[in-house]
Amino acid sequence: MSQYKNLEENIKKCRACHLRGTCANIVPGEGNPAAEIMFIGEAPGAEEDKQGRPFVGAAGKFLNQMLEVIHLRREDVFIGNVLKCRPPGNRDPMPEEVAACWPWLLEQIKTIKPKLIVLLGRHAMERFLPNQKISQIHGTAVRRELPGVGKQVFYALYHPAAALYQGSLREVLIKDFKKIPKVLEAIAKEKNAPIDTPEKNMENMETEDENRFEEPARNASPARSAASAVGWRSDSGRENKQEALF
Ligand code: URA
Repeated sequence: MSQYKNLEENIKKCRACHLRGTCANIVPGEGNPAAEIMFIGEAPGAEEDKQGRPFVGAAGKFLNQMLEVIHLRREDVFIGNVLKCRPPGNRDPMPEEVAACWPWLLEQIKTIKPKLIVLLGRHAMERFLPNQKISQIHGTAVRRELPGVGKQVFYALYHPAAALYQGSLREVLIKDFKKIPKVLEAIAKEKNAPIDTPEKNMENMETEDENRFEEPARNASPARSAASAVGWRSDSGRENKQEALF
């Protein structure tokens, strides 16, 4: 059995919190277990609970459409949630539920090793980028240390469900979503940067925070150009200075 399948089987047996007593199915997540992009939402809703699959309701249909726009299928990416079990009545996850489910999500990240984690909505954002506001951080790539994993790039978006119910967020979400290929490009260029180490490049980027949506200077490195197109912030960036996450 593959490493991911084995993990999935273990997730399906979880009894770590009381939510298993009220949900119909555990929803571990689905997609490519070697995906470059991992989408993390909040928790299964009614339809997800019924089918045991993530994002298969109205928000999921919208997510599928946005994936199509950037020429990806669900099978190309991995889609999961902070919670694997539906909270009754779709209420917000409680801190103890998030804590109980956290080891599974961490194991999924360690196994899948995504280049980019896209956080769908404020609950997913809060788990990885605490004390941020989704209204401020959406559409900005952030790289930070994830204990047990290492440096990881995150990209927070408004939740597709929020955009369905609040029309004004829809265009913002679509615009941010369309930047995902650019974020990946920036990550790849960081990796292949011939002179500076990735760390060094990131340090360069964060000092240009104010200019991050401006045209790159003519002598800017390709890595820096792609980064300024998507808007990078990193751990020690002025707007994002935070201590260790966990
Ligand atoms: N909303 C989520 O956050 N996750 C799902 O799987 C479905 C809806």
